[in-house]
Amino acid sequence: MKTKMQVDVITIFPRMFEGIIQESILKRAQQKNIVKISIHNLRDFALNKHSIVDDYSYGGGAGMVLKPEPIFRAVEKIVGSAKAKRRVRIILLTPQGETFDQDKAKELSREEHLLFICGHYEGVDERVKENLITDEVSIGDYVLTGGELPAMVIIDSLVRLLPGVLNKRESFENDSFYQGLLDYPHYTRPRRFRGKSVPALLLSGNHSRIRKWRRQKSLENTLKKKPDLLEKIELSAEDQKVLEELRRKRK
Ligand code: ADE
Repeated sequence: MKTKMQVDVITIFPRMFEGIIQESILKRAQQKNIVKISIHNLRDFALNKHSIVDDYSYGGGAGMVLKPEPIFRAVEKIVGSAKAKRRVRIILLTPQGETFDQDKAKELSREEHLLFICGHYEGVDERVKENLITDEVSIGDYVLTGGELPAMVIIDSLVRLLPGVLNKRESFENDSFYQGLLDYPHYTRPRRFRGKSVPALLLSGNHSRIRKWRRQKSLENTLKKKPDLLEKIELSAEDQKVLEELRRKRK
């Protein structure tokens, strides 16, 4: 069966990916041929015999910069061998990129071929940014030691969106963010735990009332924790009424 998505990663720490891609849902997605994840060691593309991939910054100053040749060579090998020259999104992970979010995860999950380049040190030679990459992405306004963890975060978040990866029980339809709102509260057995009970409505079997309660709780959670999300989505008249009531109560 043809693999639906190809994910390549260029990194100087390939072993960091071993656990992540060989466990749980990423492992299952690969076994089902929904995605193929290939990790490439940047040092294998260095032209010198010591496999050096970084150098001093022209103009001086502290910090090393990833050299352009090994990255260009690695990308050319990977993209050059891409079947029928399908479009490849080439994503550089740096703290300066656009901030990753669920919309970006959805957008990337529709692509056939993604190639992640993990930045390091002071960064990568500007000619890589200017000539190779299609996207520069950050996972948040903090600085990590490299782009490996961000690449793993992004791969994890988009692979679970690929059709057939999650089963019905794990489905993402009700994810926090998926519909632009935060999730509602969940409970499981036992009904009573350390004196605290599950809301009776959830045990009532009345599915339309449960649906309504969950929507209300999602709105309440979003209003409390991430109110800016409410500006971005279309709300029904019923939703607006719930929010008005919640805002009135808070005053
Ligand atoms: N490299 C270092 N910090 C990073 C971040 N926050 N996002 C993406 N890549 C990074």
